[in-house]
Amino acid sequence: MAVERTLSIIKPDATERNLTGLIIARLEAAGLRVVAQKRVLWKKKDARKFYDVHKDQPFFKDLINFMTSGPIVIQVLEGEDAIAKNRAVMGATNPVDAAPGTIRKDFAVNLQRNSVHGSDSPANAKREIALCFKKSEIVG
Ligand code: RTP
Ligand code: MG
Repeated sequence: MAVERTLSIIKPDATERNLTGLIIARLEAAGLRVVAQKRVLWKKKDARKFYDVHKDQPFFKDLINFMTSGPIVIQVLEGEDAIAKNRAVMGATNPVDAAPGTIRKDFAVNLQRNSVHGSDSPANAKREIALCFKKSEIVG
């Protein structure tokens, strides 16, 4: 295992319900360190660029509308095996399928309003971190 960085987003359904702190506590308890963080309201073009990989999916328009519907908290998380570790703490995409004790099992509303995003590969983590943060904003 190696120390990695991954991109995490606390989604609008979670910020709306004031769950930011509870979610960050779960991440920190799993050994992930928040080394960059900001609360922003994305414009449609920001969300389209971030989720470009899903542009041909039937759920793309709904996803863009959801991710621009309220504030989000974007973070860079650092730790041993951070990409897989964060995905494990998050749980499956659909909360119905998520394991007990995961963020999505405990907090997600449904398949779309599933509270968190996490990069799914080293290449995507690198791309997503570069899209969301300047190097100088990642402070360790
Ligand atoms: P994420 O990218 O947000 O970490 O989630 P993920 O990898 O677990 O899921 P992904 O397949 O990348 O889907 C991205 C987000 O799109 C919404 N979604 N809606 N059928 C649907 O309506 C549908 N499927 C996916 C979810 O918000 C999902 O997290
Ligand atoms: Mg994904």
